[in-house]
Amino acid sequence: MKEDNVALIGFMGVGKTSVALQLSKRLGKGYISTDNLVVKKAGKPISRIFEEDGEIRFRELEIEAVKEAASMRNMVIDCGGGVVLNWINVEYLKRSSTIILLKARPEIILKRISKCKGVRPLLKDLRLENLVRLLKFREPFYERAADYAIDSSNLSIGKVVDEVIKLYESSSYEKQR
Ligand code: S3P
Repeated sequence: MKEDNVALIGFMGVGKTSVALQLSKRLGKGYISTDNLVVKKAGKPISRIFEEDGEIRFRELEIEAVKEAASMRNMVIDCGGGVVLNWINVEYLKRSSTIILLKARPEIILKRISKCKGVRPLLKDLRLENLVRLLKFREPFYERAADYAIDSSNLSIGKVVDEVIKLYESSSYEKQR
């Protein structure tokens, strides 16, 4: 429906931010990032929140951020990769959003996140085996939260955006009937 949100979830490096930015333009919706909201609330970057206050504090701020983002209308919500770990976040999102999971193969994720080392505290030790372990642990959380999933491994950002729009429009049609 017109005022609905689209929430993008998925592991770090699957392309959520690039897709969300293009998608918001294509759908004429606003863009909001839960990571940006957390940074604003804490007044410092994510790496420093983890270092100085710990992951639990980060997750508390993230819950506030998701609640705020999900209460908005007509938005594309770019969710941090760990949003699905707290089910309350998924409940907030489900009230207002179609939730789309972006996936990618671990090798592709590693290649993408290697380009911005140091930004993601959970992937400081950037070995493929660590990434695969974390990905395996998270998989059921992502699958349980998602309305739809897209594998972005072999797709350009533009193609992923096309796919998201198709899914979103078919879901809006279903809801109207
Ligand atoms: C995290 C993902 C990051 C950020 C934080 C924790 C995670 O967001 O929220 O570093 O637990 O997967 P991106 O998925 O946008 O990198």
